[in-house]
Formats: sequence, structure tokens, C-alpha cells
Amino acid sequence: MENESVLTNYDLENDNTLDNTIRPETIEEYVGQTEVKENIKVFVEAAKIRDEALDHVLLYGPPGLGKTTLAFIIAHELGTSIKTASGPSIEKSGDLAAILSSLEPGDVLFIDEIHRMPRYIEEILYPAMEDFSLDIIVGSEGNSRNIKIDLPPFTLVGATTRAGDLSSPLRDRFGIISKLQYYTVEELKNIIKRTARVLAVEISEEASLELAKRSRGTPRIANRLFKRVRDFALVKGNGVIDLTITNEALNRLKVDNMGLDSTDHELLLAIINKFNGGPVGIEAISSSIGEEVTTIEDVYEPYLLQTGLLKRTSRGRIVTDKAYEVLGISKS
Ligand SMILES: Nc1ncnc2c1ncn2[C@@H]1O[C@H](COP(=O)(O)OP(=O)(O)OP(=O)(O)O)[C@@H](O)[C@H]1O
Ligand SMILES: [Mg+2]
Repeated sequence: MENESVLTNYDLENDNTLDNTIRPETIEEYVGQTEVKENIKVFVEAAKIRDEALDHVLLYGPPGLGKTTLAFIIAHELGTSIKTASGPSIEKSGDLAAILSSLEPGDVLFIDEIHRMPRYIEEILYPAMEDFSLDIIVGSEGNSRNIKIDLPPFTLVGATTRAGDLSSPLRDRFGIISKLQYYTVEELKNIIKRTARVLAVEISEEASLELAKRSRGTPRIANRLFKRVRDFALVKGNGVIDLTITNEALNRLKVDNMGLDSTDHELLLAIINKFNGGPVGIEAISSSIGEEVTTIEDVYEPYLLQTGLLKRTSRGRIVTDKAYEVLGISKS
């Protein structure tokens, strides 16, 4: 089938096997995001009682907080299958039509990076989401006609790091809109302990806590650091992850006490050294550190704002006193 390249096979493409083993499959195993989770549980339950498809769900938030994981869990809890696609990969209207007509009643269609879907594709999605119908044009020019195809009821789960980039007609068609939050240290500690359990690696309480503190509020980072520390423990120690090994490994990986990495440092230092602490516009920061504006906005800035190291004002970004303190720089 022509559209097959558009349907991404998650197992093969986006993750390595390890990531799949540690990815939680049920909502009970999904740590944190309590509010989002509780709501989804209720809506899933209600949809099952009514024997209807779950309302469309939009998940948004910074990378690595568990949007894709949650989409799979939703399908799992519904007891249906999931088909996945990503916004930029759906290029032709036929691609989307083929995906939609392959759905079974109650299925989940997961579209990652949904804000990057072309506008004309979006427009096909509107009637599909609203009335479960597909309006397509058949025939050649001069002799074309519109036909309407009924689709089975399905649930669209969209994921995006930038809800603001979604057009409002598209956003309005989601019945459930959930924002994922950065995880607390306690939650990350639980995720790390769970990963250790799944991979059968021994880790001390203090080491899990230290890893959690330095994971930038993000499960993907927690798991990534865990894997690296595990390597250090294996090669430099006896395989057990303790605090000493953890600190040594994290220092070598240049992850600081707050979990900030070298790009975070570079960003804050650029504002301090080149722009006198701000206020400075995002474009100027971008060209000064050589990172794209969108990357700064989606990946770096949210955590720096959340931890109070950076402030956003109408005149631009400002580095806070706390940031000077953390970086050990005196404010001149
Ligand atoms: N709530 C959670 N509990 C346990 N592990 C989690 C949780 N959320 C995410 N993870 C772990 O973190 C990894 C990253 O999560 P996921 O791929 O779902 O993030 P994402 O939000 O889709 O990121 P992106 O925006 O980059 O697509 C997963 O492989 C999973 O193992
Ligand atoms: Mg994802």
C-alpha cells in the first residue's frame, strides 16, 4: 500500500528495544501526572460503558514527559489497537485517507508532532474528527466529484510540544486537552526505581534520589542518565549503582546538581556575559548560542522558567538572581 511509509512502526523506528522494555504499558504503571491520569481513567471508563469511542485527546508539553507513552496506554486501557503517524510525514491527502480508512471501530490514531501537519491535511481531519466522515474528491479535472465515506468511530490522540502552534479549528475539535507537567523528584525517583527493577539492576536509595534530582524533571532524561550510570557501575564498579558511582558518572556527563546540562549553562551564561543579564530577545539568544529558537522555546526554556532561573518579560528574557547564585557568578 502506498501509505505504508506514513504509518510508523513505533517498535522499529523510534525506540530501541531497551526503551520499549522500560516504557510503562498500563495506566497504573505510569508514574505521576496524577490529574491527567485520573481524568483519562474516568473518560476511558465512561467511553467503555457507553460503548463509544473515547473523545479526541490532545497531549501537550515539553519533550520526554511521556506523551507517546500515554497515547499507547490510552489504547491499552481502551482495549483497542493504535495506529501511529507523525504530522510532518503525512504529505498527501491520500496518505491520511488511507490511514483513516484502515481504522477499526474504537481504534486510536496517534499523530505525533500534530502541529507540523500541513494545513490542507488538517482540513481533511476536521470532518473525520467531527462526524467520522471522509470527504474526498475522485475523478480527474473537469470530471471530478466529491464523495463522502463513513469512517468507524475512532479516537484521535494528538501530541505536540507546542499547543500554541495548533490552529484553533483543530484545537477546538479535541474534547480532552491535557498538559503534561515536569515530574517531581519523588516521581522521577519512582520511575528510576521502576526502570532498575525492569532491567534487574541494583541501585541504592541515595543513588536513585541523586539521579532523580538531576533529571531535569523529565523521565526520558532520567532513563537516559540511568543507562549511562549503569555502564559506569558495570565497568568501574561491581554493577551496583551507588551514590559514589552516580556522582562520578553524572559529573563526567557534565550534568550539574540541578540537572542542567552544558546547553542550559551556555544559554544562561550568554545572557549574563553578552547581554548583561537581559532583558534580551529570543532571537539574539538563539544566534549567540547557535540553537534554533524553537529548540530553545520547547526544550531549554520551559525548565529554566520552571526552576526560576530565567524570567520572561515583555522586553525579553532575564536571568534571575537565583541563576547567578547557582552559577556562582556575582552580579556586577
Ligand atoms: N509517567 C511515566 N512513568 C514512567 N516512565 C515514563 C513516564 N513518562 C515517560 N516515561 C519514560 O520516558 C520515555 C520518554 O517518554 P515519551 O517518549 O512518551 O515522551 P514524549 O512526551 O512522547 O516525548 P517527545 O515529545 O520527545 O515525543 C519513555 O520511553 C518512558 O520509558
Ligand atoms: Mg513522543
